[in-house]
Amino acid sequence: MPESGAATCCKCCTSFIITSGVTALFMWLSLRTEKPTCSIQDFYVPALNRTANSNANRNNHTIYFDLKLDNKMKDKGVKYANINLTFFYSQNDSRLPVANYMVPGFYQGHGKKARRRELVVASGLPWAAALDALSNGSAVNFGVDLATRVKFKILFWYTKRHSLIVAADVEVNNSGRKVNKKGIKLKSKRKNHNTKKLKSEAPYPKSHRARVEPLAVLAFFFISLL
Ligand SMILES: *[C@@H]1O[C@H](CO)[C@@H](O)[C@H](O)[C@H]1NC(C)=O
Ligand SMILES: *[C@@H]1O[C@H](CO)[C@@H](O)[C@H](O)[C@H]1NC(C)=O
Ligand SMILES: *[C@@H]1O[C@H](CO)[C@@H](O)[C@H](O)[C@H]1NC(C)=O
Ligand SMILES: *[C@@H]1O[C@H](CO)[C@@H](O)[C@H](O)[C@H]1NC(C)=O
Ligand SMILES: *[C@@H]1O[C@H](CO)[C@@H](O)[C@H](O)[C@H]1NC(C)=O
Ligand SMILES: *[C@@H]1O[C@H](CO)[C@@H](O)[C@H](O)[C@H]1NC(C)=O
Repeated sequence: MPESGAATCCKCCTSFIITSGVTALFMWLSLRTEKPTCSIQDFYVPALNRTANSNANRNNHTIYFDLKLDNKMKDKGVKYANINLTFFYSQNDSRLPVANYMVPGFYQGHGKKARRRELVVASGLPWAAALDALSNGSAVNFGVDLATRVKFKILFWYTKRHSLIVAADVEVNNSGRKVNKKGIKLKSKRKNHNTKKLKSEAPYPKSHRARVEPLAVLAFFFISLL
């Protein structure tokens, strides 16, 4: 017996629903985004190098830093707005801002790393007190705050902007260089507690879902091609 028109339509309907469901699920999974990882790979304050006793070194009030920005996503790009860096000198429970630097915004491709090696002039740092502390064999502490906004490029469109606000403490010894040989990862301060909670609940830590609107648009775009 030949199938009736209604049955064919029903089959067609079912496959349409399944196809769009699978497409939507696939799209939803592929839309997961992850903020780039930021770290301080090197940090050197020439004036605090106690083995260099020249005046040139003592009067060189610069901070050299090597910032690494790492987009770990293999299928999404990251567009950074201008990146604001603030350097702090922290001692005796106080946190003095001593320098600012702005890394111009840029686009970073899939799975790419970027380095920014720069010199910034520090002012308002109590150099004598810092050198005193170092002569005692203790280390001095710096803080680095990073603030920017990022949006993610998925295929041909950008998501909305998300803020990326992270910070790290950098310990410097009497060589003027950061004590820790490894890179120091900048982490989110305020959300630390929440992130830990979320980690145990969500299967994909540190990632979040893009908004639903572009997803729906794309799902319909694909379905219309089928
Ligand atoms: C400190 O200064 C000395 C003498 O100028 C130099 O040889 C040394 O490399 C400097 N230390 C660092 C960590 O750059
Ligand atoms: C200060 O020290 C840095 C790092 O060693 C060096 O690159 C820079 O040229 C120095 N600046 C001056 C004015 O000596
Ligand atoms: C910390 O405070 C003490 C006493 O107030 C002072 O002598 C010292 O220089 C300060 N240390 C630094 C590194 O600022
Ligand atoms: C040097 O060390 C001594 C003993 O650990 C401490 O009492 C003193 O405050 C330290 N001085 C500085 C400038 O850190
Ligand atoms: C970075 O600094 C500029 C100038 O002070 C400011 O307009 C911008 O909002 C800052 N960006 C972030 C993400 O804080
Ligand atoms: C200071 O830190 C640098 C870099 O980690 C290290 O090579 C050096 O041995 C340290 N110096 C002292 C006196 O601890």
